[in-house]
Amino acid sequence: MSSPVSYTLEGSIGVISVNNPPVNALSQAVRQGIFDAIAEAERDASKVVLILCEGRTFIAGADITEFGKPPAEPWLPEVFDRLEALEKPVVAALHGTALGGGFETALAAHYRCALPSAKIGLPEVKLGLLPGAGGTQRTPRLAGVEAALELMTTGNPIPAGKAFELGLIDKIIDGDLRAGAMAWAEELTGAPVRRSSEQPVPGHDAGIFDAARGLAARKARGQIAPQRIIDCVEAATRTSFQDGAKIEREKFMELMQGEQSAAMRHLFFSERQAAKIDDLPKDTPQRAVETVGIIGGGTMGGGIAMSFANAGIPVTLIEISDEALEHGLAIVDRNYAGSVKRGKLSEDKAGQCRSLITGSTDYADLADVDLVIEAVFEDPELKKQIFARLDAACKPGAILATNTSYQDVNLIAAATKRPEDVIGLHFFSPANIMKLLEVVRAEKTADDVLATCMSLARKIRKVPVMSGVCYGFIGNRMLQPYFREAQLCVIEGATPEQVDNAMESFGMAMGPLRVADLAGIDVGYKARQALPEEMRGDPRSYRVAEVLAEMGRLGQKSGAGFYNYDPETRKHSSAPEVLEIIEREAAAFGIERREIPDEEIVDRLVYGLVNEGMRIVEEGIAQRPGDIDIVYVYGYGFPVTRGGPMHYADAVGIGRVYERVLEFRDRFGAEAWTPAPLLEKLATE
Ligand code: 3HC
Ligand code: NAI
Repeated sequence: MSSPVSYTLEGSIGVISVNNPPVNALSQAVRQGIFDAIAEAERDASKVVLILCEGRTFIAGADITEFGKPPAEPWLPEVFDRLEALEKPVVAALHGTALGGGFETALAAHYRCALPSAKIGLPEVKLGLLPGAGGTQRTPRLAGVEAALELMTTGNPIPAGKAFELGLIDKIIDGDLRAGAMAWAEELTGAPVRRSSEQPVPGHDAGIFDAARGLAARKARGQIAPQRIIDCVEAATRTSFQDGAKIEREKFMELMQGEQSAAMRHLFFSERQAAKIDDLPKDTPQRAVETVGIIGGGTMGGGIAMSFANAGIPVTLIEISDEALEHGLAIVDRNYAGSVKRGKLSEDKAGQCRSLITGSTDYADLADVDLVIEAVFEDPELKKQIFARLDAACKPGAILATNTSYQDVNLIAAATKRPEDVIGLHFFSPANIMKLLEVVRAEKTADDVLATCMSLARKIRKVPVMSGVCYGFIGNRMLQPYFREAQLCVIEGATPEQVDNAMESFGMAMGPLRVADLAGIDVGYKARQALPEEMRGDPRSYRVAEVLAEMGRLGQKSGAGFYNYDPETRKHSSAPEVLEIIEREAAAFGIERREIPDEEIVDRLVYGLVNEGMRIVEEGIAQRPGDIDIVYVYGYGFPVTRGGPMHYADAVGIGRVYERVLEFRDRFGAEAWTPAPLLEKLATE
């Protein structure tokens, strides 16, 4: 097999070229190839060594598929130490995304140049890891402690220009990278070797490490990797490069073998997998989407409009009246002003995006749009009427989408004469911020419509997951057992705080009852009222919420729900009056309230998700368990360090989850706790 790394002597320049598509990851063969190339360069007559990559990017990191498997030599640190030890100048030429082990390759070179479009970064933290091949030791030596901490604890890449300012890159090359880098290498003939590991770490503020630890604890709650990165950078300021590198290696291996990184690596691959539809050929044609119409400028419509405008796609927003339109556009204006204030968008950019959104009250203005997304009230009859109107108003081939949370997309499609053009695009609130997009494939949705929407999602920077049609699709359907158990725990003996705190300690971004207060208790109430009696579930699981809704305690928006809210700060505090209601309603059901351990709360809520998730996979509503994990992490605040509910169940052990579900069935009844057949099968086979 030919090596993915070639070495050629071009005049006096020894050129190491890596060609390992798609992203030149540092697989064993690449590591070996670079190692062998260094050995040649040590012996030959080259005066300067240049390392560059073929294809779309410089090395984008270690090969993540090798993680968790037995290590294969040569190890990266060994390769980089030998590269850095060369007695002639080594130049790295970067394009695309030089990330992780890729940027560490460049750090081990003596000089670095890059195209202006290149990005560099150390994103290991996003995989629950730290830069494990010298990155934590070399970066602070070149860029200083503060910049190194920022780069590694956030994992966010930076553009070449910024890297140049920080001293991480020495030269920006415009035009042809190879030609420019070769010319610069010629110039460097005879220049001193300049090893990053031999530079001193510049001075820093005394309190910087404590401050960084505190910040990381808040921003990346429960994550170990950022704390270990800070330890390593601190070690760089206190010990020799060699000792620091040893500490880095130990901590890297510890993280690599830990559960958090396994969970986060699972999410990395699941996110990429979720974008693929198994039964759609790769070359499925796509429709052009250059203009978009949105019906309804309420909570969702405005945010959806912003998502498209932010990606440069013009939007026509349709409302029912001039007043409603004005109101909707005013919210969009406020959101843009907020983004400018928080420094997320420049004033200019916000203005450009905003100018792409125009309002109208006339469906005739949708005659030429390529895609329409309906986001009106959750009323099935209204939605059907609107789709019949869209059928008449829109050009042939336009994609007609609904943002419904629960309604049957097949029935909505049947209101048109072109059900093949109809699809669900379920955004999450706030739609301009939340990354998840459930793409709902109805029975008759055409393949090209589905393929178009999956790739359009990425264009507007969303993470798409396909769902089949069922009540609530993937995410909201699974919420039913989750909220059911949360409220049952409350009526059986826990307080709202106990339930929320237990789930937040588990890692959820927000506990379920605080979520209910945020979303509005009336939302679930109305949804339940619209259901036939037999679909509403166990009355004990919604009675308290029902009482609160009927009292007008609708959650944050009315200043009170499961909690009381400070009108100014919106801070929540416990509501003794709600506890009284809980106790009264429990008594009415004849429930003797008891002490419920936190562990039981977590298991009931999370295994409720898992059991329903198993059914969703089995019914083919989700293509794979990993898709469910992506939905929960990006749409529902499930902790990344647990890898999503399905990965979590795997990590706990399917057998243990099954046993616990059986125990709950015996204690709480088979209606809620019959194990999904797939769970049973996996546990018993
Ligand atoms: N290892 C193995 N496979 C990788 C990979 C990696 N580091 N990076 C990307 N891939 C694979 C993807 O899984 C995907 O495979 P698929 O086509 O089979 O689904 C394919 O390459 C293309 O990836 P994307 O779809 O993500 O392509 P994009 O162009 O959208 O993005 C990218 C490219 C920015 C490089 C993005 O893939 C990325 O962020 N990759 C991960 C970068 C990273 O985390 N590097 C650090 C690794 S850890 C490390 O280096 C440890 C070291 O310190 C010791
Ligand atoms: P909303 O009540 O905030 O906004 C609905 C808007 O539609 C109103 O501004 C109303 O004037 C407008 N409207 C009603 N009839 C119309 C018509 N015939 N033509 C044009 N405009 C019309 O509702 P929200 O929350 O934005 O929800 C919209 C849809 O999105 C619903 O189907 C909902 O289930 C779904 N959804 C809501 C989420 C949320 O968190 N609010 C999350 C995901 C989906």
